[in-house]
Amino acid sequence: MAQELFRSPKKRGRVAVLLSGRGSNFRAIHEAMLAGKINADIVLVFSNKAEAPGLQTARERGLETLHLDPKSFPTKEAYDAAIVEELKKRQVDLVCLAGYMKIITPLFCQAFRNRIMNIHPALLPAFPGVEAQAQALAYGVKVAGCTVHFVDEGVDTGPIILQACVPVLENDTVESLSERILEQEHVIYSRAVRLFAEGRLVIEGHRVRILGQDLP
Ligand code: GAR
Repeated sequence: MAQELFRSPKKRGRVAVLLSGRGSNFRAIHEAMLAGKINADIVLVFSNKAEAPGLQTARERGLETLHLDPKSFPTKEAYDAAIVEELKKRQVDLVCLAGYMKIITPLFCQAFRNRIMNIHPALLPAFPGVEAQAQALAYGVKVAGCTVHFVDEGVDTGPIILQACVPVLENDTVESLSERILEQEHVIYSRAVRLFAEGRLVIEGHRVRILGQDLP
């Protein structure tokens, strides 16, 4: 059955970003919000890493931040349950995984079913998991790219929202290819969050339809 992820355009969306590192995707999404392109606000930036540079950026930008140490929880489920509680407390509509290097548990997926997005630096379903750009380069593909998808219980397997491709050049290194892909990540992640906030994403089975895109 089709599931339309609609919200009233009058209400501003409440977005939480989960990150583990640099946070450039978080910055891109936040900047699109500040520029008025997305009818939503970031109400929490969360990290599993106390020292994540993205957390520091969020503090400098006056956003609420939270760090929970996975080591102080007995299980992965207990950790995710604590995160879910914090997200619910803040009435979060959409969770954006932006370089969040932890696999989330089914408990987390179910609590925010079809309301968790992830950015992956490959054209899924090719090259899931870690070091996707290195995998693409080693395989010898001529076109690489990135994917924004809804998160399900698998690793990088959820319904695809947007993808963008970039060429792989003869003298590319993992760094140069990653940089070219990252530029596109910032574009499509912000666009996907905007589409969600505009209520234009409909999930049909494993397919995400974008309303208003196929009109003449
Ligand atoms: C991005 O390239 C993102 O696609 C990748 O981590 C980087 C985070 O950069 N995510 C994954 O590989 C998830 N499997 P950022 O912290 O600057 O946004």
